[in-house]
Parts: sequence; C-alpha cells; structure tokens
Amino acid sequence: MENQPINKPIIYSGIQPTGIITIGNYIGAISNWLKLQDDYNSIYGIADLHALTVRQNPAEFRARAMSFFAQYLACGLDPAKSIIYFQSHVKEHTELAWILNCYTYIGEMTRMTQFKDKSAKHQDNINMGLLDYPVLMAADILLYQTALVPVGADQKQHLEIARDIANRFNNIYSPTFVVPEGYIAKQGAKIYSLQDPTSKMSKSDPDANAAVSIIEDADSIMRKFKRAVTDCETVVEYREDKPGVSNLLTIFSEMTGRTIEDIVNEYHDKGYATFKQAVGESVVERFRPIREEYNRLMNDKGYLMSVAKEGAEKAQRIAYKTIAKVKRKIGLTELK
Ligand code: TYM
Repeated sequence: MENQPINKPIIYSGIQPTGIITIGNYIGAISNWLKLQDDYNSIYGIADLHALTVRQNPAEFRARAMSFFAQYLACGLDPAKSIIYFQSHVKEHTELAWILNCYTYIGEMTRMTQFKDKSAKHQDNINMGLLDYPVLMAADILLYQTALVPVGADQKQHLEIARDIANRFNNIYSPTFVVPEGYIAKQGAKIYSLQDPTSKMSKSDPDANAAVSIIEDADSIMRKFKRAVTDCETVVEYREDKPGVSNLLTIFSEMTGRTIEDIVNEYHDKGYATFKQAVGESVVERFRPIREEYNRLMNDKGYLMSVAKEGAEKAQRIAYKTIAKVKRKIGLTELK
C-alpha cells in the first residue's frame, strides 16, 4: 500500500486511563491483543486524551496513566514486538481529529450510545470532548492505517463511525485511509458486573464489589467472587435467564482455557459456593504473575519512561506520514 512503511497488517487498540483495568478489559481486549501480537504490527495506546472528557485530578491522573502503562507491559505486551505508547505523546492524534471533525456530522455524534450514557451521568460537564470522543478514536485508528481493531462489544458503534469517516474521506478524495475491521471475540466480548450481571463490568463502577482489577490482591478477588450475585437456583448452567452464573462461567472459561461445557459438567451439581470459590481461584492464579511483574515494573520508572519514549517516536514516524498525506489531499499548503 502507498506510503505503508511496514508490511504486516496493523492492529490498533487502547484503553482509557480511568478507574481500574478490569478483568473485563483483559478478557474483552488485552487477551486478544496478546494473541494477535505475533501476526500483526500492533500499536497499543494509553488513551489519555480520551480520559480528559471526564474531569480528572491531575496528580491521580498522571499516576494512573503510568500504572496502566505498566499493566500493559505486565500483561505481556512486548515493546520488542509492539508499539506501546501514550496517545498524548503523538500530537498527530489531535491534528487528525480536528480535520476529521470537518467530515463528521453532529447528528452522528449525538446518537452515540456512549455519549447519551455519559452525558446522563455527567450532566454538569457535557463538554465538546464528550461529543467528539468517537472522532478522536477514529483519528487514533486511521492515523496508523489500521487493518484490525480488537475491542470489546461496547466499542462496536465507535468502530462503525471510524469506518464511515474513512469511507467518506476516501470517496471525496481518493483512497487515503485503510478502512478498519473490528475484532470482537465470540466469547468474552462483554463481561458483566459481579453485582448486577445484566450490566457491563465498568472500570469506574462506584461499587467496588462490581469489578475486579487485574492487579488486585488474592483475598480481595476471592471476597468479590464469593459475593457475586447469582440467582436462587442451585445448578450451574449457562442460560440466558441465569446471567450471573453465565457470566461466571465465561470468566472461568477465559481464565483456564476450558470450554464452558466442560466446566458445567464438573460443577453442575456442586453448589454455588464451591463454584464461586473455583472461579475466584482461577482469576487469582491467572493474574498472580501479572501482579508480580507489575510491582516489579512500578519500581523501575526509568525503564517505563524509556519504553514510552521509544513507543512515541515509533508511533509518530507512522502517524506523520498519514497526516502529511491527508493535508496534501485536502489542499492545505505545504511548507517547502
Ligand atoms: P475502554 O477504556 O472503556 O475499554 C478498553 C477495552 O476494554 C473493552 N471492555 C470490555 N470488554 C469486555 N467486557 C467488558 N465489561 C468491557 N469493558 C470494556 C472495551 O471494549 C475496550 O476494547 N474508546 C476506548 C479506548 C480507545 C480505543 C481507541 C479503542 C481509544 N482509542 C482506538 C480502540 C481503538 C475505550 O474507552 O475503551
């Protein structure tokens, strides 16, 4: 492809540094990033500019962004294979977002589910960024000529808009952006709250028992799984009318690689207490090495900063080419 500096297809994804990285984020997004890391040129951003759409305490925000960055690495994202960086370190994101704004309709933004939810939740701060959020996300994706975007189910609508904007721009000028495809896994694309299994597990849920962080200590993880809301039956089955148990089965399956069927066969009549204990233990075991690596990395801020710096430089080398091409196509004057 024209101007494409590298030959494997490109993957792009990111997480906003708000709240905690939950086991939902891990199952819906990060675990797929890890699977795809060898076959694609992957780029993973800390979407810190997106997080500004909600008011942040500066000191906490800075610390949280670095903590999320360390968690990316602790999960196994490898700077030798992937570009791992902070979105705000590559100025082309905001530059492209502005340009793409001029190819996006207000009506497309006001009908976004996340905009409606977030503006209901933050009525005192319905800022322009909240409305414009999907355009910045489209810029993130299109800037790198991304082929595949591995995300959870809740990002599907944003991905569609990114595709629409890319197609619109390509049709007006000539092929400029790769039109990205989503990668949403069949199982685990939506992990539910442990306290309300009909709503999504959210990284900033005010109820601490609703979500589990990937770096949480073992006792706390076990406590939350023991308290997980189920139903008044006793059988372990995957059924639509048993959202709590079904969610736990999905988590258990994702943690262990066992099929849901296999797990149901083992736990069907063992009772919820035994089942919940086993699910909790599977989560503790899966994340133990990640938590240890995270603690080690957080004691080496110099290393984290060096990875972030290298990531930003590599990302910018790709981003710059796309921006230059876009500016040329739309007729902005080049400085020669
Ligand atoms: P964010 O930070 O809300 O979530 C990060 C990723 O985790 C997925 N996810 C879940 N998957 C399964 N079950 C859940 N309960 C669950 N909760 C969240 C999300 O789908 C997402 O993949 N706008 C994005 C961040 C972003 C981005 C991008 C993503 C910014 N630029 C470019 C892809 C490409 C967001 O807020 O995700």
